Amino acid sequence: MNDFKISSFEDYQKKYDQSVANPVVFWENIAKEFTWEKFPKQLLNWDFQTGITKWFEDGELNITVNLLDRHLADKANQTALLWEPNELDEDTISYTYSQLHQAVCKFANALDKIGVKKGDRVCIYMPMIPELTIAMLACARIGAIHMVVFAGFSANALQDRMIDCEPKIVITADGLRRGNKQIELKSIVDKALEKIDFVKNVIIFNALNMDIQMQHSRDLWWNDVVKSESTIFHPIRTSGEDPLFILYTSGSTGKPKGVVHAVAGYMIYTAYTFMNVYQYEPNDVFWCTADIGWITGHSYIVYGPLACGATTMMFEGIPTYPEANRFWQIIEKHKVSQFLTAPTAIRSLMAYGKEYVEPFKLKSLKVIGSVGEPINEEAWLWYHEYVGKKKCAVVDNWWQTETGGVMISALGNISPLKPTYAGLPLPGVQPVLLDVQGQEIKEANVEGFLCMKFPWPSIIRTTFGDHERCRVNYFSQYPGYYFSGDGAKRDENGMYRIIGRIDDVINVSGHRFGTAEIENAINLNDAVIESAVVGYPHDIKGQAIYAYVVIESSAFEMDQTSLIRSIHESVANAIGKVAIPEIIQIVHSLPKTRSGKIMRRILRKIAEGEIEQIGDTSTLLDPSVVSEISKDSKKIKSI
Ligand code: WT7
Repeated sequence: MNDFKISSFEDYQKKYDQSVANPVVFWENIAKEFTWEKFPKQLLNWDFQTGITKWFEDGELNITVNLLDRHLADKANQTALLWEPNELDEDTISYTYSQLHQAVCKFANALDKIGVKKGDRVCIYMPMIPELTIAMLACARIGAIHMVVFAGFSANALQDRMIDCEPKIVITADGLRRGNKQIELKSIVDKALEKIDFVKNVIIFNALNMDIQMQHSRDLWWNDVVKSESTIFHPIRTSGEDPLFILYTSGSTGKPKGVVHAVAGYMIYTAYTFMNVYQYEPNDVFWCTADIGWITGHSYIVYGPLACGATTMMFEGIPTYPEANRFWQIIEKHKVSQFLTAPTAIRSLMAYGKEYVEPFKLKSLKVIGSVGEPINEEAWLWYHEYVGKKKCAVVDNWWQTETGGVMISALGNISPLKPTYAGLPLPGVQPVLLDVQGQEIKEANVEGFLCMKFPWPSIIRTTFGDHERCRVNYFSQYPGYYFSGDGAKRDENGMYRIIGRIDDVINVSGHRFGTAEIENAINLNDAVIESAVVGYPHDIKGQAIYAYVVIESSAFEMDQTSLIRSIHESVANAIGKVAIPEIIQIVHSLPKTRSGKIMRRILRKIAEGEIEQIGDTSTLLDPSVVSEISKDSKKIKSI
């Protein structure tokens, strides 16, 4: 494990330099820590002009052998997966490595019997329960490609994703509970499948004993399909470059894209970053509070920790149920050593007051992480003082769905910390800041576009079914570089501070939405002619959604509250409740240039309350629109 685990800041510097001087040898050595059927000879092929990267292409392996089988020799009875239920008075469920291995094999046998084969897509739409992890790993054992959809997305959003990647089967549950809310997942799946004929079967896990409709011959109960299956399933060999999963994420265009990750590179990079960012030690309990429906859950609940033989925890509930101390209560209950959450959760718990966290000593904690959006200084300091009790490293992890794993971050208790700075790049990561002309910015403290000049093992491989989209999105802005879409600056010590998105992407509570995607959803409403959506700073959510909506003249007679409620419904139906705008302002027209382009810059300034900084409006078709909109700009709260 000498090459694998970074032991000090000097060790980091040494390894970082090696990883830049000779990246291929660096990752080849890390790859040797894993179990291969055939060790790769072709280590890296890449071309940032076309956006094609291949790592370990001729290697052969099965990822679940690395996540499960190889730990059976010395960790068969160690806890692999801990599950903490929504309800305070229900029992924790835990799986040892041996039990998880058996459960995964059983389910893999069931999938095999149904006819799921290597390369088939499998849609997973499930609550945060152990069966979600088991389902993903069973797919991986077969070489099938899982496509997990966050269970907060609507039937339409689920349907769109399925139409794009054509899964053979869907795995779901009767329902989901979070806090005191319940959602009937199975009926959402039924609705999503209405126009789809390529889904052969739906497997339903009975999580909540809900009364659900079963469609004869298509729908199967999880417990029935696994009942008589064997606990042995011989892992299917995949190549290093076979796709492991597809995960949809939003971009600046309307339709979410299916980010594809490949088996070997993703495994190696998530394991490496998990171990080093969190400085995991034997017997530690690692807890990431993300939902597995997002990349953070894929990489740091499932793949990274299990690849390292760690104990990883899943939580079904929310931080404020039954009270706003649930996180701290769980940390004490399971003696959690490393904790990873989102700034939005930290800010919301901060708003509840320190009396919820102060009574908890949280002695087991060593490293506490923040991920998904910029963490402001106040939240960073609160997290460090009240959760970390000033003894734990706060690691701010910058990365993206497309990067697969953490790219820029402090390494727990090893690296220097600086509030609001994500910090230094991980070994193998070569960031640059580019100016508008595409020149590399060398000076300190100058803002630029954050790009990467060399591939790391878990870089996005393609966007499913449409590689051109991948090339255009990530590799065409600055030829020869991977373009992240974020602005950042670097201090004199080389530490990076992420400023935020520079494209039309809004990050609401760590959830990513394209402005066009939300506008499309709003425009589905019959009363709406057109709309423009921008993000504005929000105390808890980081960013919130502000929508300017032009309505049909007849709709002006409608009661405003019900009009806004119906727009909320349109968004909830098209995407999900998470995308409902915080503010909707009804306007007569939008500020447009003479060529018809909406001037979002102006709308953003109005949303931010910086009307005096709007600047020149003379290029607008009708400059008077601006004063009309800003006069009425009001903060109508969501209902
Ligand atoms: C976007 C990626 C990181 C995985 C979960 C979100 C923003 C992410 C940070 C951070 C500042 C961050 C960026 C990035 N972001 N982490 N530590 N500091 N901003 O993945 O949904 O793909 O979103 O989230 O803007 O581009 P995602």
